[in-house]
Amino acid sequence: MGDSLSTRIEEIECIRYAIDKGVNMIDTAEMYGNGNSESLIGEAIKGYDRESLFIVSKVLPSNAGRNRIFQSCKNTLDRLQTDYLDMYLLHWRGIIPLDETIECMEELKASGKIKRWGVSNMDIDDMFEITHAAKGDQCQVNQVLYHLGSRGIEYSLKPFTDSRNIPTMAYCPLAQGGRLKDKLLKSKSVIKISEKYGVSPIQILLLFVLNQENMISIPKTSKLKHMKENIECLDIILNEEDIELLNSEFPAPNKKVSLDIE
Ligand SMILES: NC(=O)c1ccc[n+]([C@@H]2O[C@H](COP(=O)([O-])OP(=O)(O)OC[C@H]3O[C@@H](n4cnc5c(N)ncnc54)[C@H](OP(=O)(O)O)[C@@H]3O)[C@@H](O)[C@H]2O)c1
Repeated sequence: MGDSLSTRIEEIECIRYAIDKGVNMIDTAEMYGNGNSESLIGEAIKGYDRESLFIVSKVLPSNAGRNRIFQSCKNTLDRLQTDYLDMYLLHWRGIIPLDETIECMEELKASGKIKRWGVSNMDIDDMFEITHAAKGDQCQVNQVLYHLGSRGIEYSLKPFTDSRNIPTMAYCPLAQGGRLKDKLLKSKSVIKISEKYGVSPIQILLLFVLNQENMISIPKTSKLKHMKENIECLDIILNEEDIELLNSEFPAPNKKVSLDIE
């Protein structure tokens, strides 16, 4: 979002519509559109009570060391036109030692530039290392790919982070609108449940993720029509029978698989 002038007005309208409907968490990153996504959000949130919003952004691994992270964070705050981030994530693991990034995150916290920090795209070995590092117990979230067609994290990563009270933030919850796993949207179970509730298959994908304990879902849309659809279905709660049906076609993993990233 934020890359094209022709879609900018609708994107801003989308974000404002969502906030007006009670969505308060917005996910972005310095990488997205090379800062354009953060600038768009900065414009969209103007006039709203900052404390009612929960803004998440991410630092690139190459900027996550002592030399660059403070300037990166400042640039992010400037683009978002805000004084602080509610959550700052290390976008993925690079060559900068995790200890150094954690130390800097804690300094950003102490200076009030960020309220909390977390990580993204970390598998269980990384999470083990992070949670055992000095101040690593301050890690507040792991943002990873998760949707009905990609449930690998359920085997060991999510149980591990759950046991440490670290919530999971699911990216690509809609399987990128079906592009990642087109078969999801055409599957018998998803279609059957969508007909039962009178909603679209995409909404069932979103409800499946929302049904998970200790999980936050961050679907993306630039279209007001889609934003309305995604918000409209939030009061539907899938029951055990629905989940069993989905499990029968898209079972939870029974062995460790490596973390999906697309
Ligand atoms: N940490 C990471 O490494 C990482 C990686 C990828 C993504 N993310 C985060 O996760 C967010 C979501 O991931 P994502 O964008 O890759 O995948 P997604 O949310 O699973 O899917 C987004 C796609 O679904 C479409 N869509 C949304 N609502 C729809 C609806 N009701 N009906 C039909 N299509 C719909 C969108 O198109 P329209 O815009 O046309 O509606 C878009 O093409 C990103 O915005 C980003 O914040 C993080």
